[in-house]
Amino acid sequence: MTAPIEPSVRVLLDPDWASSSLVEDVRRGLSQHPRTLPPKWLYDDRGSELFDEITRLPEYYPFDAERSILKEHAYEIVTASRATTLVELGSGTSEKTRLLLDAFTEAGQLTSFSPVDVSERTLRDAAALIAKRYPGVHVAAVVGDFTLHLAHLPRGSRRMIAFLGGTIGNLYLEERRAFLGALADQLEPGDSLLLGTDLVKSADRLIAAYDDARGVTDAFIRNSLVVLNRELGADFDVDAFSYVPFWDPHMERMDLRLRSEVPQRVAIPGADVVLDLAVGDEIRVEISTKFRLSELAAELEHAGFGVTSVWTDPMDEFALTLATKP
Ligand code: SAH
Ligand code: TRP
Repeated sequence: MTAPIEPSVRVLLDPDWASSSLVEDVRRGLSQHPRTLPPKWLYDDRGSELFDEITRLPEYYPFDAERSILKEHAYEIVTASRATTLVELGSGTSEKTRLLLDAFTEAGQLTSFSPVDVSERTLRDAAALIAKRYPGVHVAAVVGDFTLHLAHLPRGSRRMIAFLGGTIGNLYLEERRAFLGALADQLEPGDSLLLGTDLVKSADRLIAAYDDARGVTDAFIRNSLVVLNRELGADFDVDAFSYVPFWDPHMERMDLRLRSEVPQRVAIPGADVVLDLAVGDEIRVEISTKFRLSELAAELEHAGFGVTSVWTDPMDEFALTLATKP
């Protein structure tokens, strides 16, 4: 047997990306109302592990819903895209992506796969697994930030950019617009975006998905404070907060916050910030926006895409949209 081809790994984040970019994000975010932390900081090694656990929770329906769409329609999706290069943004473990890779293999269409993620450990492990499993595919992983590094995505052949998991919903409206516009600008005519979005549904179902009985999501959100303690020498008492997820019906998004349970002063020396928190003061750690298909199509068109096809799961909870650069 021949040895599997090793994946290549390109690192676009500079070594102190974590600390330098985090400092700005923390300064800006904590001076807003409500105080906000940017979500990419959730995915250190521990955060990535906890997220992986979330995807296996019975309450967390988006993972299974998206997977069921891929199970049913992956072949149709890849042949419609006519892509030979698959790029995956925020790829994590690329677990569901295997359904796309299987379909690409069946169609005899794929030559290369580029997973892109800020979480280097998770990305390296995932890339190695995939290189082993799909020996005919050139795996070129990129440790990068999809809000900064879109200009460095691989080019040269027809591409499909997969952005799964509803991760686009974790961006704020302005960021989402900027991201979609920048992505459309980077694509060649005929390239496409495969976008996974969670859809608006009952508040009960949503809250259960982000407030699981075992407290895994609570631990995931709380881990953001551990990241600040480690990276910026902060002294957050992680247990002095409670996790408060709620549905914001006006913005149609989950709003995931930590609430101070005691009056406290937190020093964040690495960012030169001192935070005085009264009982009940909140820090927003993450949003997860839910979409309506008609508005999503309009947004994609506005960014410069043409919507080719939309697939949903049998319960219409989640959608995959194939949008093409004309
Ligand atoms: N696509 C996977 C994982 C989703 S979790 C799925 O559908 O299950 C979101 C992933 O995006 C994490 O792996 C996280 O590390 C990554 N991520 C978050 N912000 C990012 C950014 N700005 N640039 C690149 N990757 C990011
Ligand atoms: N993109 C996923 C989502 O918004 C990320 C995620 C899953 C998440 N579970 C979470 C984010 C819990 C914060 C908390 O659903």
